[in-house]
Amino acid sequence: MPHSVRAFSISADAIAAERERVDDDLSRMDVSRVIAPDEVELPDPGPDDVRLRVLAVSAEHNVDHAALADTVNIAQIRGGKIYPGNSAVGEVVEVGDRVTRFAPGDIVITHCNGEPDEYGYPLRIWAYDQPESIGWYAEQAVLGEWQLIPAPLDCGLNLWEIAALPLRAPTAYHLWRRAHGIFRLKVPREQLATLNVLGFGGGVSELFLMLALAEGHRAFFCSGSPERRAALEKHGATPIDQREFNRFASRDDLRAFGKQVKKLTGGVGMHLVCDMLRGPVFAAGIQAAAREGVNVSAGWQLEKNLSYDSAGASVKQLTLDHLHLETITGCRSATALYGSIFRPTIHKEIYAFEDLPRAMHEMYLNTQTGIPIIRVAADMPEAVSPLLG
Ligand SMILES: NC(=O)c1ccc[n+]([C@@H]2O[C@H](COP(=O)([O-])OP(=O)(O)OC[C@H]3O[C@@H](n4cnc5c(N)ncnc54)[C@H](OP(=O)(O)O)[C@@H]3O)[C@@H](O)[C@H]2O)c1
Repeated sequence: MPHSVRAFSISADAIAAERERVDDDLSRMDVSRVIAPDEVELPDPGPDDVRLRVLAVSAEHNVDHAALADTVNIAQIRGGKIYPGNSAVGEVVEVGDRVTRFAPGDIVITHCNGEPDEYGYPLRIWAYDQPESIGWYAEQAVLGEWQLIPAPLDCGLNLWEIAALPLRAPTAYHLWRRAHGIFRLKVPREQLATLNVLGFGGGVSELFLMLALAEGHRAFFCSGSPERRAALEKHGATPIDQREFNRFASRDDLRAFGKQVKKLTGGVGMHLVCDMLRGPVFAAGIQAAAREGVNVSAGWQLEKNLSYDSAGASVKQLTLDHLHLETITGCRSATALYGSIFRPTIHKEIYAFEDLPRAMHEMYLNTQTGIPIIRVAADMPEAVSPLLG
């Protein structure tokens, strides 16, 4: 029988009320006033579906984008309300007749591909623009078997670290495969074995740099957060304080950053740059690029549109690449790297379910010391109890 569970929602009305309160000044918006406790009615699982008890989720920026309506007003486009949340760890509690890969008691993670194209890339994202999709910031979820991947419980990460990765790790994995693959089309390994790789602050970039380090390249992490820089330094990355360059507010800041990059790389620059933020960060990434460099991004947190000097990029043989998540097969492959390569930095507080709106607002304020995790289930299954450390 269909039944209701506690879930969070974002409504177009709540967005409008908050935007009116702050006079459309996004910098004053309080995301926790938009993401609201609610209930959602879940259907019975169909023959190919699984019912999941959600154990833990990570805060993801696409939810803040939905609450701010800064890129598109997705709640309004989808009829006035969405139930967000597209990264989760859960326990299987019920399976449909045709489900073969999972059984009750299994611990699983999700991917957020809402509908793959013919090559496995997402046409739409679950709990964002996929019509009718209900997200996983909820006590339970009903979803297709195809949306689940077994959780690698013996990978050496704790439950919160595993919960940080279902969306960010596949994205970093794909960014790495694309950036490295494109560069190798231009400069083969026989000519240059070790690359300079730059990532700007954020969970995805951190994971991108872990892949670079694992393959023996030099990694540079440019972030405004001392805690996150220190965490990446422990992995072997060279830290660069983004605030020393005023987050690239002026041409002088950009020039000073370019000079610092040259100094750190013996005059060469960065062969691969993971941006994710765009806005002023984009110009800094271009400034930092080595000849034949590749600049990749799957994010547009600070700005959707770009402008650049095409002639300058051509002369320098630069490549800009844009992408959106991994293929479903790639998501499974990225999961195999949990613990061995992906060792995420977690924010110091594990938020209670009730505090999810505050977690989302603190993410917006950029005050967290790592990836924010929300514990959804009060009682955890035996299978994960050794991982609660
Ligand atoms: N399309 C996809 O496949 C995909 C997947 C995942 C994420 N994304 C998008 O990519 C973006 C980053 O995601 P994430 O999960 O890596 O982020 P995250 O872990 O939440 O980190 C965001 C980072 O943004 C930086 N930041 C905040 N305000 C800034 C500013 N004014 N100037 C420069 N940097 C600033 C902060 O770095 P500091 O340390 O410098 O403060 C912070 O660490 C988001 O927009 C997200 O929606 C896209």
